[in-house]
Amino acid sequence: MVRRSSVRVPSSTANIGPGFDAFSMALKEPYMDLSVEALEGAEGIVVDVQGPYRGLVPKEPQRNAAAKALKQLIELSGKRLGLKITINASIPVAKGLGSSGAEAVGAVVAGERVLGLDLTVEERIRAASSAEPGHHADNVIASLLGGFNIIDNSLESLTYLNLKPPENMGAVVIIPSFVKKSTDEARKALNQQPMLKEYVQALSRASMIAAAIAQGRMDLLLKLIPLDPFIEKVRADAGLYGEGYNWESLLEEKKKLLNEYGVALCISGSGPSRFLIYDIRRGMDRVERAVEYLSERIERMAGGVERIIYTRPTAQGAKITEER
Ligand code: HSE
Repeated sequence: MVRRSSVRVPSSTANIGPGFDAFSMALKEPYMDLSVEALEGAEGIVVDVQGPYRGLVPKEPQRNAAAKALKQLIELSGKRLGLKITINASIPVAKGLGSSGAEAVGAVVAGERVLGLDLTVEERIRAASSAEPGHHADNVIASLLGGFNIIDNSLESLTYLNLKPPENMGAVVIIPSFVKKSTDEARKALNQQPMLKEYVQALSRASMIAAAIAQGRMDLLLKLIPLDPFIEKVRADAGLYGEGYNWESLLEEKKKLLNEYGVALCISGSGPSRFLIYDIRRGMDRVERAVEYLSERIERMAGGVERIIYTRPTAQGAKITEER
């Protein structure tokens, strides 16, 4: 019997241009460690948070993503026991890197072991995404399975495809200091209908991005990922990516980054982090210049840069690191 299970979970970027709620990708850095432990003679969930972002992760089980997901598992198991979740909060919180999704996945993967369950992938995704606003499952599937993922959570049973990210894809995350209200607020801003033109553009670009991932076509990915015709536009104009930003200023940066440096820019999840993609075969010089240009703009227009992370996609999802 497993008393304590520890897992390492990758962060994730979602949407990846026009793939709102449908595309996501796991990132090698940053990642987080989380453990679930059975408590003798107790009932309910206790949350302990450590690590650099501990001040930003709620400890109350009703508000904590890991605890909410674990509660689902306890209900599934029908067991009455006490569980302690220990989170090492090392993924930036509320910056669009799927920190809550990663927490929920960690709790489900470790909790499944401690509760002695044998869940399907679909059950794991459903339990983890129940803790996410609007039950969006894009971040969750990437943190659980690794790789590039396409998910449709709208049908009775979940439909997903897990693909290997292109080997030549490099990525940089630029995290603005700007604090967004919440992913929930960023989703409420989208309460509008896209026009037919935008719908068709999103459809063709997203389909091509998915096929380009499968074929490792970095040229197509760099060209199409920056072109989200709807979601980023609405959120940029709602001031969700920094007060000094709107769609026009974001688009100006996207064009400059692609044309001058060969780097694709999109917003990571609901933002405000900027996600830059490049082809590692073309050298780092241009990437560094692109990062410098964009950081300077964010310093000036969005109140500063909190952190820059050079990373890569990873095919490795949540992984058990220790059990006793
Ligand atoms: N698809 C979600 C959104 C991701 O954009 O709201 C949140 O990280």
